[in-house]
Amino acid sequence: MKEKLSQILDNALNQIESSGELDKLNDIRIAFLGKKGELTSVLKSMKEVAPEDRPKIGQMVNEARAKIEEKLEEKKAAFEKMVREEKMKAEVIDVTLPGRKLQVGHRHPNTIALEEVEKIFIGMGYEVVEGPEVEYDYYNFEALNIPANHPAKDEQDTFYINDKILLRTQTSSVQVHEMEKGKLPIRMISPGRVFRSDDVDATHSPSFHQIEGLVIDKNITFADLKGTLEQFAKQLFGEETKVKFRPHHFPFTEPSAEMDVTCFKCGGKGCRFCKGEGWIEILGCGMVHPHVLEMSGIDPNEYVGFAFGVGLERIALLKYEIDDMRLLYENDIRFLEQF
Ligand code: DAH
Repeated sequence: MKEKLSQILDNALNQIESSGELDKLNDIRIAFLGKKGELTSVLKSMKEVAPEDRPKIGQMVNEARAKIEEKLEEKKAAFEKMVREEKMKAEVIDVTLPGRKLQVGHRHPNTIALEEVEKIFIGMGYEVVEGPEVEYDYYNFEALNIPANHPAKDEQDTFYINDKILLRTQTSSVQVHEMEKGKLPIRMISPGRVFRSDDVDATHSPSFHQIEGLVIDKNITFADLKGTLEQFAKQLFGEETKVKFRPHHFPFTEPSAEMDVTCFKCGGKGCRFCKGEGWIEILGCGMVHPHVLEMSGIDPNEYVGFAFGVGLERIALLKYEIDDMRLLYENDIRFLEQF
C-alpha cells in the first residue's frame, strides 16, 4: 500500500511538472484528488488494510494530497507569471520612438478669400445674408427682369427641378428676397453656391460660388457704386490697384458695367498672367433697374440702388495665382496647405 501511494504521488508530481498548459492542471487535480481520483480510491480501499496500519496510511494519504495540492499551486503560479510576462513583452511601449504627426486640416482658399471679402464689406457697414440654393424661377429670373423666353436665360444653362423650381444660377436671387422684406435702406452682401449645367474644365464647374452685393437707399448714384467697388478692389488686391468700368449689359441693372482691375502681377504693363492686357475683369455691376425695384415693392421714384456680383473662385484663383479651378474642388491637403 505504501509503495502504491508513493507511486501515485510520484506519478502525480511528474504529470504536474511536465504539464504544458494551465487547463491541464485541473484535469490532473480531478484524476488524482477528485471523487473518483486515484488517491481517493486508496482511501476507499482502506478496509483491506490492517486496522493498526490504517492511521498511518491515512496520514500518508493526507500528506500525499497536501504535496500534490502544493505542487499544483506552485505550477499554477508559474503559469500565471509566464502569461503575465509574455503579455508585458507584447505590450511594451518604446517611449523613445518619435511621435507620429497628426495631419491637421486647412482652410480652403475659397474660405480665406471669402473671409477677406466679407471683412472689407462689413467694414463699410454691410450685412452678410444668405439665400436658398434651391430657388423659384421667379427669384432667379423673372423678378430680375429676365422673363420667360428672354435670351439671358439661355446664357445660364440651368438645372431645373420642375417647371417652377431650379438650382439658382446666380446669387442675384437673394437681392429679390432682401427687397421683398421691405426693410430699407439695404446694404448687404450675400455669398453662396450657384449651379450651371457646365462641363468641368480649368475655368468652369457646374457648381461654384458668387458674392452678391446690393445697396438700396435714397440718393444713391453711380459715383457711390464706383467709389465702393474701387475701395473694395484696393483693399483686396493692394492700394496701388486701379479700376476701370466698361459698359456692359445685365437685365436687372441699368446702366450696367463690368469692372476690371490692373493686373497685380505686372501693375498694368501687360504680362502672361493678364494675357498682355494689363487689366483683369473681376465683377459685374450696375444701377438696379427701376422695374426690378418695382416688382419687389420698392418705389423707384423714392429709392435707387446699385448691385454687383463677384465670382468667388475667380478671386481665389487670381489672388493665389492658381491656374486651374479644378484644384479648388479636389481638396488635396498638399495643395490646400499652401495658402
Ligand atoms: N448675376 C450676374 C452673373 O451671374 C452677376 C452680376 C452682374 C450681379 C451685375 C449683379 C450685377 O448684381 O449688378 O453673371
